[in-house]
Parts: sequence; structure tokens; C-alpha cells
Amino acid sequence: MGKYLEGQRIYLRPYKKTDFAALDALLDDRGIQILTGSVYPISEKELEERIERCQKIDDQIWFVVIDKETDQIIGETGFLRIFMPWRTTDFSLEIWNKNFWGKGYGKEVAGLMFDYGFNFLNFHRMSIGVVEKNERAMRFWKSIGFKEEGRQIEGFFSEGVYSDFVMMAILENDYRANKPA
Ligand SMILES: CC(C)(COP(=O)(O)OP(=O)(O)OC[C@H]1O[C@@H](n2cnc3c(N)ncnc32)[C@H](O)[C@@H]1OP(=O)(O)O)[C@@H](O)C(=O)NCCC(=O)NCCS
Repeated sequence: MGKYLEGQRIYLRPYKKTDFAALDALLDDRGIQILTGSVYPISEKELEERIERCQKIDDQIWFVVIDKETDQIIGETGFLRIFMPWRTTDFSLEIWNKNFWGKGYGKEVAGLMFDYGFNFLNFHRMSIGVVEKNERAMRFWKSIGFKEEGRQIEGFFSEGVYSDFVMMAILENDYRANKPA
């Protein structure tokens, strides 16, 4: 499978077995792993299993994010804990390559995933949990329309410090009302 969802500067496609080396290199950054709440090392077997989730397995759909100019993987995005009777899903988006942060790539990925999720998969609601001390992520999710719904007080612990875990969501109607024409 080549380009599945295509934007201006990036495209999304399912995982390929040959993605192993690129993902292994990208995930080998403890700083980002800490930001995203990961506390265990990722073994070769786990990474292989991740790549095996090629397109849709049970309640998950994952893609790698590819920079069109270099044809390199820069991140991953997906829907998980999908439950269609309620038309709900959790959303995940990680730009693993730091050189691509703060340049609008995250927004572009989110735009493609919103269109796919709301207009093709018929979701009504997408949720996310964000660590409050991850200021970039907090501002990012708000900037694309997610709203805070509640928080798990001191629900997250990293580098010796507790932080709130902020529950956020976007509803289909809000997406449609705020979508640029
Ligand atoms: C969080 C993340 C997905 C955002 O993607 P991005 O490509 O860096 O963000 P964008 O450039 O699309 O920016 C979108 C908005 O996010 C906010 N933002 C981006 N970079 C920021 C920064 N350095 N500081 C504060 N806010 C920032 C801004 O509100 C921006 O909107 P604007 O450009 O209109 O001002 C990405 O940085 C990332 O994956 N980081 C590492 C892992 C992580 O923290 N994941 C989140 C787990 S919940």
C-alpha cells in the first residue's frame, strides 16, 4: 500500500516490514519516550509486533507519517480503542523526528485523520489523554479543536514529579463547525 491519506507535505500509509530500521532509530530517543509517557524500553519483538499491525486489527487503525520531500518516516498516528456502537475512538499522534516539530506537520496529520475519522469511519467523538506538563502537546491539541473534559489529578509520574493527566476530546459537530471551508 502506497499513499493512503495524502496531504501537502506528508502522507499516511500502513506499516511495512521494511519500516523496522527507521522506526527503531526514531524511537531510540529516551527524551521523547519520557514526553509520551513511556517508561519501559521497547524490545525488538514489541517493535516487530507494532509493525505487524499493518492496517486494521480489531479496534485499532495505525499509519506511519511520511515526509513527502525525503520519503522518510517522521512519526506515527492512529485510532485505538475504537467502539463503533458509540462511534468513539481514542486518537494518537506522535511526530518522532524533532526536526519536524513546530512546523505545522502535526496539524496537517490531524487534518487528514479528522477527515478520515469523521467523514469515512463515521466517528462521533475522538478522545486523547495529555500530560499537563507537556506544554507543546497541550497547546497543540487545543489548537486543533480538542477541549478539556476533566483531569486525573497527579495521574502521571515521570522524572520524580507528579503531573495531571488531562482528558480532552473533539466532537464531530465541533469539527464540522470549525473546519476551514
Ligand atoms: C505534539 C505534536 C504532535 C505537535 O505537532 P507539531 O507538528 O510539532 O505541531 P504544529 O507545528 O502542527 O503546531 C500546531 C500548534 O501546536 C502548538 N505548538 C507547536 N509547537 C509548539 C511549541 N514549540 N510550543 C508551544 N506550542 C506549540 C501551536 O499552538 C501550534 O499552532 P500555531 O502554529 O497555529 O501556533 C509533536 O510536537 C509531537 O509529536 N511531539 C512529541 C511527542 C508528543 O509530545 N506527543 C504528544 C503526546 S499527547
